[in-house]
Amino acid sequence: DWSTERAAQVIADHRHLEGATMPILHALQETFGFVPDPAVPLIAESLNLSRAEVYGVLTFYHDFRREPPGHHVVKLCAAEACQSMGGKALAAYAEDKLGVGMGETSPDGKVTLEPIYCLGLCACAPSALVDGQLVGRLDAGTIDEMADCFAN
Ligand code: FES
Repeated sequence: DWSTERAAQVIADHRHLEGATMPILHALQETFGFVPDPAVPLIAESLNLSRAEVYGVLTFYHDFRREPPGHHVVKLCAAEACQSMGGKALAAYAEDKLGVGMGETSPDGKVTLEPIYCLGLCACAPSALVDGQLVGRLDAGTIDEMADCFAN
């Protein structure tokens, strides 16, 4: 769980790196699953940047999550090859079936649905990353299975 002490340690471990803002944000997200707003002044102070600068980087990249993720994280590929294989319709189906909007976490905290841009699995489009596992040839049936699996 998030704690200022742990965050300060993560920041201290990475602050010496070149262009340390990005590595620190990535390390915080890896540690806590997200980068909470209270991390911004800590990073700013440590790197001698303004809060606005750090905040700008945090909000510019959609890879960074600013809220804790759900128990399951589904990243649907929204890049070209997957789009051309029905990715858009599948995303709409997933939103409906999983009960969560793209880029959001369900109110019960069970699942986070996010877009991702090419997983290198274009030959098996449409693709997804489900709880860190690559899944190819996604279809409505796969989404149904996910929904059943997450419900338990
Ligand atoms: Fe989806 Fe490459 S475009 S995996």
